Amino acid sequence: MSAALVGQPIARLDGPAKVTGSARYAAEFNQSGQAYAVVVGSTIGRGRITGIDADTVTGLPGVIAVISHLNAPRLDYGPHKGPIDPAVGERLHVLQDDQVHFYGQPVAVVVAEALDDAERAAAALHVSYSASEPVVDPNDPRARSIIPGSTARPGSRIQADKARGDADGAWASAPVKIDATYSIARDNHNPMEPHATVAVWNGGRLTLWSKTQFVVNEQAEIAAIFGIPLEHVQVICPFIGGAFGTSLRTWPHVTLAAIAARTVQRPVKLVLSRRQMFHTTGHRPRTVQRVALGATRDGKLTSVIHEGTGETSRYEQFVEALTSISSYLYSCPNVRTRYRLVPLDTGTPTYMRGPGEASGVFAIECAMDELAHALGMDPVELRRRTEPQIDEGEGRPFSSRSLIQCLDFGAERFGWARRNPKPRSMHDGRLLIGWGVASATYPAIQSPASARVRLLADGTAEVEAAASDMGPGTTTSMTQVAADALGLPLRKVRFSLGRSDFPRAPPHGGSQTMASVGSAIRAACIAAQDEAAGNGGRLPVEASASTARDPELARTFSMHAFGAVFVEVAVDPDLGIVRVRRAVGAYGVGRVVNPRLAASQCIGGMVGGVGMALMERTVLDLRDGRPVNAHMADYLVPVNLDIPAFEAHLVEEEDPHVNPLGAKGLGEIALTGVAPAIANAVFHATGKRLRELPIRIEDLLTE
Ligand code: MOS
Repeated sequence: MSAALVGQPIARLDGPAKVTGSARYAAEFNQSGQAYAVVVGSTIGRGRITGIDADTVTGLPGVIAVISHLNAPRLDYGPHKGPIDPAVGERLHVLQDDQVHFYGQPVAVVVAEALDDAERAAAALHVSYSASEPVVDPNDPRARSIIPGSTARPGSRIQADKARGDADGAWASAPVKIDATYSIARDNHNPMEPHATVAVWNGGRLTLWSKTQFVVNEQAEIAAIFGIPLEHVQVICPFIGGAFGTSLRTWPHVTLAAIAARTVQRPVKLVLSRRQMFHTTGHRPRTVQRVALGATRDGKLTSVIHEGTGETSRYEQFVEALTSISSYLYSCPNVRTRYRLVPLDTGTPTYMRGPGEASGVFAIECAMDELAHALGMDPVELRRRTEPQIDEGEGRPFSSRSLIQCLDFGAERFGWARRNPKPRSMHDGRLLIGWGVASATYPAIQSPASARVRLLADGTAEVEAAASDMGPGTTTSMTQVAADALGLPLRKVRFSLGRSDFPRAPPHGGSQTMASVGSAIRAACIAAQDEAAGNGGRLPVEASASTARDPELARTFSMHAFGAVFVEVAVDPDLGIVRVRRAVGAYGVGRVVNPRLAASQCIGGMVGGVGMALMERTVLDLRDGRPVNAHMADYLVPVNLDIPAFEAHLVEEEDPHVNPLGAKGLGEIALTGVAPAIANAVFHATGKRLRELPIRIEDLLTE
């Protein structure tokens, strides 16, 4: 087996299709006779629908149907049957009753001959409500925090409470200590591609061209709700224009497209507007975290206390790994973490790039910077002194850990040694310059996955898995893995993904696609070769394989990726404007299948981190929970001018334990660490410690 392709910086195989526009995204799968559906969202934050005046719009041009709870089919919303179950509770039962749980909840769907007909009718549809006062602010005295139920499930990676030693006692007696509270705004994913579904019924069979990071989950969810056999639902999604977690779940608009198509007996296209993408497709939950650190004067941690609370909806408990990092990131004998949820009258949050870890790392890494300052110690040196030998939370060795290598490599590339540690000491003309650093981390996940390989008589191979590619280059990197395993040149291998009738793959999230699907592809290629060898080489042959993490290795090792981020900011002292001037990220993520795509993926994550640190913030109207900046003019994301000089480096790391490919995954880790590095740089520039994201001009202008 040659190893010529894995490790090569191959350009995206689907790049030409993407830049020429021949790559088709969900909303582009037009069907003949297609009608258009537009969602009507609730204009109250909580209450009951008392009337839907469908008659006034059914006579409007082009209108075919107005579907609401008054006439929608009753669906089989039982317990969640799909393979992904991120939340405890009852997912939204769309159009099944008169209850309104949050602003923007779908209360009707209008179907028309043309998109503008449907939009006009949706805007004209009068819905009356009996409204009550929603609680949408976590600080509202009526909001109550709860212990997240799913954390009690056996095997849950996320625990409500975890402790070793006596963290509170050790903190009380620590010679040097800090205690600070950090908060992060609600962020929305805002990928370029909107959520979209084209639904076509053919008898009892349903085909969905739908934007999803998880085709087999969408298939399972829709089959369950409509009470039809799994194999009667086909979900197709060959390309994704960014998602960042917002397309992991099957949100109500997919169900609405299927309801609409069944009601009007025609293909139906449903595309969410940018505004609607702030309502029903999840968001990074607002969080508040308290971190208290105690240390000896020579920089050994004696106490870590990490208490975090995230928002959720009232009908579901969304949990993420907000406080999990604190048990393994640094060496400390006394650690106590606590995780709570505050249910509010909003839609359920969801995973957003680096879910949990990105928020948790912000708090811990800012706290480490505060501690370094209190100690009068260089923040890189503090991390050197707190480097653990093993995962002290799990009591097992790391399969590999390159945090110090990343810090060293990044510091060298960045020129960290030239930093004057004193805040407000570095200048460029009238601008204040700040240099900040933070660690990054994310678990190395591998889930069960399958793949199928056909070796054809013409010497080419076809490889299939129900994976997705939301942009990291999965299509390309999987082709590299398969070609190497088969000993074929790249052009002789065709890899296909994004169909629910392909062999099952886990969600395209959690940075696990290469570890999971890559392992399955490699195994299937080997099986196909064995098969061909066994029958004397007669082609074609077909073979499938399923892989999962070796349970023995999983019990033996703690598996995480680590990295370090260095950032330079320039702050205008009069205007409060913060500009990131340059950033260096260094990551230890095991084997890198394609360094070109990996660096691109890392820089993309770093850009997301800039957004989280300085720009992104969904603001809710407290009266009704309406996202008031639900459009790209007021929801700010970084643009090219915000990203002048970013470098992502992948340090050499050989991990013989994590999976047969030795690949840890790198999608999420690249976002974690960036926001605290920026906040720490802002402190270094200004002497002002800002503990709330995003950092805004007004924060820097007020005392
Ligand atoms: Mo990522 S938030 O797991 O799509």
